[in-house]
Amino acid sequence: MKKKSLLVLGVAALSVVFLFAVVYAAQQAPDNVTMESKVYKKHKKALVTLSHKKHNVDYKISCTECHHVYKDGKNVWKEGDEVEKCDAEGCHSKAKAPKAKEGEKKLSRKEKASQGYHYSAVHENCVGCHKAAKKEGKAAPTKCAQCHPKKKK
Ligand code: HEC
Ligand code: HEC
Ligand code: HEC
Repeated sequence: MKKKSLLVLGVAALSVVFLFAVVYAAQQAPDNVTMESKVYKKHKKALVTLSHKKHNVDYKISCTECHHVYKDGKNVWKEGDEVEKCDAEGCHSKAKAPKAKEGEKKLSRKEKASQGYHYSAVHENCVGCHKAAKKEGKAAPTKCAQCHPKKKK
């Protein structure tokens, strides 16, 4: 009896340690991220590398410029909260918005991003900030080939 409850306790303790290890490992902020969303059946362009650490440390960009959870129009995500993939269900889980048909309203990149299109979300976020940064004289890439270095075969 005593032996058995000790065993149960042991297993319980171990699984807590294990769970912690998994959660911890999954939520380490990466130094570099090769962005390769599976929402695209095929990548037409070369994969883009985000220098995550450089953006945080050298370029001093706050986490909330990129990570967000909106509630009543406000970004309530804060450092330490769980980070979801950009293409998570309910976030930006659709590839690219179809072209507006005759008579249909053309949506802005921002509107498409908020409707869940990954293509619009990344280009709105990454290129949007880079365009503004370039105006301030910073070397932020805005041309296709600067982010997608070569055509994918
Ligand atoms: C600031 C960096 C940046 C710039 C500049 C940029 N892109 Fe992208 N693009 C991305 C990122 C990040 C993704 C998402 C890739 C992923 O997660 O798979 C992406 C995805 C794409 C995709 C969908 C995935 C694929 O490979 O088919 C296409 C197409 C694309 N970009 C075309 C372009 C074109 C055309 C331009 C220039 C008009 C451009 N991009 C400029 C960062 C950039
Ligand atoms: C320039 C935009 C940007 C900034 C700034 C940024 N991140 Fe990220 N972060 C990303 C992108 C993009 C990913 C990859 C998401 C994906 O794969 O869909 C990512 C991934 C992560 C992950 C990994 C999630 C996983 O599932 O592996 C963590 C943790 C993280 N970021 C935390 C942070 C923290 C903390 C900060 C602020 C100190 C921060 N990020 C700042 C864009 C950014
Ligand atoms: C809020 C602003 C901001 C956002 C958002 C942002 N960047 Fe940047 N990024 C910068 C600035 C500023 C620089 C140039 C810094 C310098 O050289 O002084 C830069 C530089 C870069 C560079 C070239 C230098 C390097 O570090 O590799 C790449 C590639 C890049 N960004 C990719 C991305 C991608 C991909 C995303 C979206 C996932 C993104 N950035 C989102 C501000 C931003």
